[in-house]
Amino acid sequence: MDNIVSTIIYILILFSTALYYCLSKNKERTNKGRAKLPPGSMGWPYIGETLQLYSQDPNVFFAQKQKRYGDMFKTKILGCPCIMLASPEASRFVLVTHSHLFKPTYPRSKETMIGPWALFFHEGNYHTHLKKLVHNSLSPEALRKLVPDIEAIIISCMQTWESGLITNTFHEMKKLSFEVGILAIFGHLEIKYKNALKENYSIVDKGYNSFPTNLPGTAYHKSLLARERLNQIIREIISERKQKKLLDKDLLGYLLNFKDERGQTLTEDQIADNIIGVLFAAQDTTASVLTWILKYLHDNQKLLEAVKIEQRAVWTLNQEGEQPLTWAQTRNMPLTHKVILESLRMASIISFTFREAVTDVEYDGFLIPKGWKVMPLFRNIHHNPDHFVDPKSFDPARFEVAPKPNTFMPFGSGAHACPGNDLAKLEMLILIHHVVTKYRWELVGSKGGKVQYSPFPVPLNGLPAKFYKEPTTNQ
Ligand code: HEM
Ligand SMILES: *[C@@H]1O[C@H](CO)[C@@H](O)[C@H](O)[C@H]1NC(C)=O
Repeated sequence: MDNIVSTIIYILILFSTALYYCLSKNKERTNKGRAKLPPGSMGWPYIGETLQLYSQDPNVFFAQKQKRYGDMFKTKILGCPCIMLASPEASRFVLVTHSHLFKPTYPRSKETMIGPWALFFHEGNYHTHLKKLVHNSLSPEALRKLVPDIEAIIISCMQTWESGLITNTFHEMKKLSFEVGILAIFGHLEIKYKNALKENYSIVDKGYNSFPTNLPGTAYHKSLLARERLNQIIREIISERKQKKLLDKDLLGYLLNFKDERGQTLTEDQIADNIIGVLFAAQDTTASVLTWILKYLHDNQKLLEAVKIEQRAVWTLNQEGEQPLTWAQTRNMPLTHKVILESLRMASIISFTFREAVTDVEYDGFLIPKGWKVMPLFRNIHHNPDHFVDPKSFDPARFEVAPKPNTFMPFGSGAHACPGNDLAKLEMLILIHHVVTKYRWELVGSKGGKVQYSPFPVPLNGLPAKFYKEPTTNQ
């Protein structure tokens, strides 16, 4: 019941967003030019097919359309005319080779909440500069230094799991990915700042997917206020760091030291929006995948045993866990790595992305009119039997050979591809190492394999599970 109510509320939110986002901007035009629009149905005016999309499993929605219309079809979502792209080639066209013809597009309410200067809303020079800073702060060299700290975060999070009590796995993974996000951004941050960021960010988090009306008392209103306080906290951290003249090589350090060709530095708003942007991009994504990994391993006990063997070997080498994991060890966990890739494919938590055509574009004989949205459908591509044999079965061995080009895009592709992918994978490797060498876990309830969208797919109710500490005898 709860689910139905929240779905309805979600649809209402999408409506209200759609109304001011789309109606004014995109008048559907009839094009008498050369190319014709792709096939597909546009649903009722304004409501379009949004209701259908959000009242059923989006995979089913897209897969049905793809069957009927092929790899490129039109529809209407959030009141906006959209063209969905279910082929690797079309995704590459939009995201990589012709990315200059398509710009990022997000609902205004999201932009306000995260901060309009965050890099993913931008293109061109500003985007390139910021992307480089984020990349540098997450280089292999930087990640190598983070291994012990990430390990410490994971161990201390796991220590709070009480043997045999029901744990909300997603919730725990969110705590963990938040801490790692803070680490990558600020390095070792004073506890008072960390707590202030944590409390206020969790209020913002509740507002992301709530009805965007700025009336006192609403979750949206509260989260805008908390967002304002986050800026305040970040400003304090910056001023303290400037006083101490610390030249740290974390993301904040890179942002503070940046100067463009004309010697311009970034403003505090630009810095704050990008910090919140990275936290936002890092937390729920990583946490959902970590949650899926624990489910997949649990559901495939034979595979779990094989992963345990791989990880116990490392554990034994490290004097039964007395020595910390090393970067080199994380680079050499072949089976675990394939489990991660297969989990990313199966879960495809970023099911699709949005871009907007900045001009009329022709692709494969079809017209993509200026102002229309295009949606590369990552999940469909990852679940297409032409690219992944028997796509419904969880089979890490399929990654013994590299996937065909452009068929595997869990982290997107092209100019806006995810700069956090190696950090996310590192977290997964370290978590798997500790969880399989120290725990056994049972799932509570979610037998039916039901999925919840929050907004990324996670197992229903965040995968409630009971973790039991295992005696750490070597076998
Ligand atoms: C398993 C975890 C993750 C997944 C599946 C994921 C997936 C993605 C995808 C698909 C995109 C591209 C979106 C698009 O093209 O529209 C993206 C962008 C981005 N991700 Fe991740 N991500 C993950 C973790 C992280 C982490 C840990 C960080 C940071 C520490 C991060 C930071 C970003 C940023 C800043 C962007 C925007 C890049 C740009 O616009 O140029 N992500 N992510
Ligand atoms: C939010 O941040 C402020 C600082 O701006 C801090 O005083 C407060 O304790 C934090 N937490 C909450 C829940 O407001």
